[in-house]
Parts: sequence; structure tokens; C-alpha cells
Amino acid sequence: MTRLDKYLCDCHIGTRSEVKQYIKKNYVTVNEMTATDPSMKLNDSDTVCFKGEALSFRKYCYIMLNKPSGVVTARTDKNDKTVMELISTNFKDMSPVGRLDKDTEGILLITNDGRLNHNMLSPKKHVDKTYLVTLKHPIDTSDIKALEAGVNIGDDDITLPAKCRLLEEYLLELTIHEGRYHQVKRMLEAVNNKVVHLKRISFGPLQLDSSLAAGEYRELTQDEYESIYMYTE
Ligand code: URA
Repeated sequence: MTRLDKYLCDCHIGTRSEVKQYIKKNYVTVNEMTATDPSMKLNDSDTVCFKGEALSFRKYCYIMLNKPSGVVTARTDKNDKTVMELISTNFKDMSPVGRLDKDTEGILLITNDGRLNHNMLSPKKHVDKTYLVTLKHPIDTSDIKALEAGVNIGDDDITLPAKCRLLEEYLLELTIHEGRYHQVKRMLEAVNNKVVHLKRISFGPLQLDSSLAAGEYRELTQDEYESIYMYTE
């Protein structure tokens, strides 16, 4: 048996004093009856709703952000606005999974699930990442073949074979399986080209939700969560 106010806190609805206010404002129902007593005891079979939405206890939070340009992928930064400043959550210890450059846009996963974060970034997993790359110069077939075979970007090893799809003369869809520093920009430099705009449209099994404008975010759906969980097991 759990107290209603503790249950609401555990569901990350708010702090103990915030959830008391929500109960006062009639935002909370238990089995479709408006709850009035924060100390009310709950059974496992009770259905608690907050603002009409049924709650379930979740330990972790998974957010898909459409990262805008001009914001750094960090928890804190002295000079720049961070991706963490764009999201609001009651969950503690949220961190971005990997990083996008300040001028890169697109899908970024943010979570407090440390194990999943670690697994998604593990070099052993080769999580695919797909980017829309706007180029400075048109790209020819031999450059595409080179990117698909692997290029020397100044590291010990050449890059793993990438997948390329030329969408327009200056627009390439590029899927890579690693996450080296500035990898896409360095790969295009290796074939004497230059990235003028970069947007990540998928991360592992997750596709960027096209309804999210730059800077907007939402929690992952259950299906999305299950897809990343399976992917990293
Ligand atoms: N590759 C880059 O060069 N930059 C990014 O932000 C992501 C991949």
C-alpha cells in the first residue's frame, strides 16, 4: 500500500508539495473519483489519473529532441545554451546519448537510463546513424564509392563502410555505423568536399519525428522504447 502523494512523486509528476497542490486543484483521480486526500492509501489495482491521463510508475525517462543549431550537446556549458536547457522534466540525472555538433540539427536521445546510454554508444553495437548532408560541391560516383568503402580521416583506422543515397546534386543521405569526432564532416573532407548543413534523421531504430520543430521534444512511445531496448540487448 502506497500513499497517493508518494505514488505521484514516484511517477515524476512533481515534488511532494507540488503534488499536494495538484490534488487540491482536482487534477488527480483514483478509480475515476476526484482524489482529495494526499495520504490516501492505494492498492495495486487502483487506477490513478493525472489531468485525465492514466499513470504508470516509470523509473526512467527517454526523450527525443529535435536539436536545433546553435545549442551544445552537454549537460552544462559556461558559454552556450545546452540541449538540457531545452527540456523540462522531473527526472533527475538526464544526459544526452552521444553528441551532435553545435551546428548540427536533428534527432538526439536524452535519458537517465545509464545502461541504455552506454549500450547505444558502445563501439561493439555499431548503432546506425543517418544524416542528411548538404554539400558545398556536387559529389561524384567515385567519391560515393570511396565513402561506401571507408575513407582515411586521419585516425588509425579508415572508417567502416557507409551507406550513401544521393538525393539531389548537393544533398546526400549518409548512414554511418560509428560515432567518431566530427565523423561526417571529416569523411566529406576526405573526398575533398565540405558539409554546409548537417541534420541527423535517425539514430538506431529511432526516426526523427517530423512533427517536432527544431527545439521541440517528446517522450518516446512504448514501441520506440521497446525498439531501442531490443536493439541494445
Ligand atoms: N558527424 C559530424 O561531423 N558532426 C555531427 O554532429 C555528427 C556527426
